[in-house]
Amino acid sequence: MTLTLALPKGRIFEEAMPLLARAGIVPEVAPEATRKLLIGTSVPDLRIVVVRASDVPTYVQYGAAELGIAGADILLEHGGAGLYQPVDLGIGRCRLCVAAPAAFDYAGAVRRGARLRVATKYVLAAREFFAAKGVHVDLIKLYGSMELAPLAGLADAIVDLVSSGATLKANGLVEVEQIAPITSRLVVNQAAYKTQRDRLAGLVGAFAAAVAP
Ligand code: PRP
Repeated sequence: MTLTLALPKGRIFEEAMPLLARAGIVPEVAPEATRKLLIGTSVPDLRIVVVRASDVPTYVQYGAAELGIAGADILLEHGGAGLYQPVDLGIGRCRLCVAAPAAFDYAGAVRRGARLRVATKYVLAAREFFAAKGVHVDLIKLYGSMELAPLAGLADAIVDLVSSGATLKANGLVEVEQIAPITSRLVVNQAAYKTQRDRLAGLVGAFAAAVAP
């Protein structure tokens, strides 16, 4: 039976390719050079699908892919139902943070118990974080370019991923709290791991061995 590995488009994809090569998995055509979404690999009966990063856990949860690579940020929002997360791949390293305009007194607003408007793609993670701190927030769901929200007057602060910090800096924002460190994980469909244990355990082992020391 053919196994399917779901890979995320974008940020993580480039870092995933060398890792796949070290795990002995070479795509038949370079995924970035083709419009094909289903790609065979050098491993017999293993194919790759390339999907939106936020869709990877869904493909694996429903068994449309037995394995996938997903950022911890995406997994926080998905909830992880039906998935094992056996390997921290150490790629896509960044952090989920609260950021606000440099001129905004975030700490003071929190101390005063003010109600904050926070824009984010990560609504569940943000809700949980602020609830645990007892901070009152109105969350505004966005799908991208969160950094724009405070500048446009849509929100007081944002919850977003920060890597180099260049995007925050370019938009006059500063990191005010860290919510969680983020890396990408190998995820495996739980039911498939029982029915096709030998092959999947072999692939999990290959990924674990491929993770840079
Ligand atoms: C992420 C994140 C920030 C940026 C941070 O966006 O949302 O905008 O990277 O990186 P930096 O700290 O190195 O500047 P990404 O490029 O993943 O695209 P997205 O907006 O689709 O999430």
